[in-house]
Amino acid sequence: MMPVVRPVVIAANWKMHTTPADAAELAAAIAKATAVPLVERVVCPPFVSLAAVGRALRGSGVAVGAQDVHAETFGPYTGEVSAPMLAGLATWCIVGHSERRRDQRETDAQIGQKLLRCRESGLRPILCVGERLEEREQGRAEATVVGQLQGALRVVAAGPDLTLPGLVVAYEPVWAIGTGRAARGADAAAMADVIREACSGLGLADASSLPVLYGGSVTSTTAVEFLAEPSLDGALVGGASLKVDEMAGIVARAALTAAARDRATTAAAEAG
Ligand code: PGA
Repeated sequence: MMPVVRPVVIAANWKMHTTPADAAELAAAIAKATAVPLVERVVCPPFVSLAAVGRALRGSGVAVGAQDVHAETFGPYTGEVSAPMLAGLATWCIVGHSERRRDQRETDAQIGQKLLRCRESGLRPILCVGERLEEREQGRAEATVVGQLQGALRVVAAGPDLTLPGLVVAYEPVWAIGTGRAARGADAAAMADVIREACSGLGLADASSLPVLYGGSVTSTTAVEFLAEPSLDGALVGGASLKVDEMAGIVARAALTAAARDRATTAAAEAG
């Protein structure tokens, strides 16, 4: 049997940083500094910079993602942005980031609705899950993450089946985000296996090929540990994604992982 080969994805979450003018310049510089084969690159700027970043990235092979989407398609929701509005501006969308769970009190049910909106509009969702420090200390990290997946994915499931084309899950322990305290590679890899198992249990066909990224204080230094783990398929990068050199280092390391996976696939195909 052919081994499952998952893509390697590096996604940049710029959060509430950059103006449209800065964003276009930064995106172009990152695209140039990360032009390596086999790694899927995604830049997620603020909404107001999506158009400028899209223009700056045209022809570069770097995809554009939104940082959020509203749970409804249209309606009286002042200041919000819906999935149909993102058509032509983004092909990916971060959903359920822990900062939104915390600050906008997003629930798993709303996050599930957002996944539905992504599916309707053909956006590839990056679903973020992760435990808080006290949950890890109480030995509830896995239960928390599985609960988040269940809460969101049950909204999407129709009967026993769950279809979410292009889904990527980002495991982002809350205590590691923006703190400089990254998780251990082995712990994140173990959680990635838990995530695939839970998604399979929830009816996701082909859960073994679900890409799982790690996020939380990823830098060109910490990325090495995560990208060496066969269960992890890349990173969702916050603070370091605003620095061209950091992104260059992270994507260069990701390219080694992607090349090794590519060689393994070729060898398996040749072995028949
Ligand atoms: P960080 O953020 O890399 O700055 O820790 C990651 C994220 O919030 O996606």
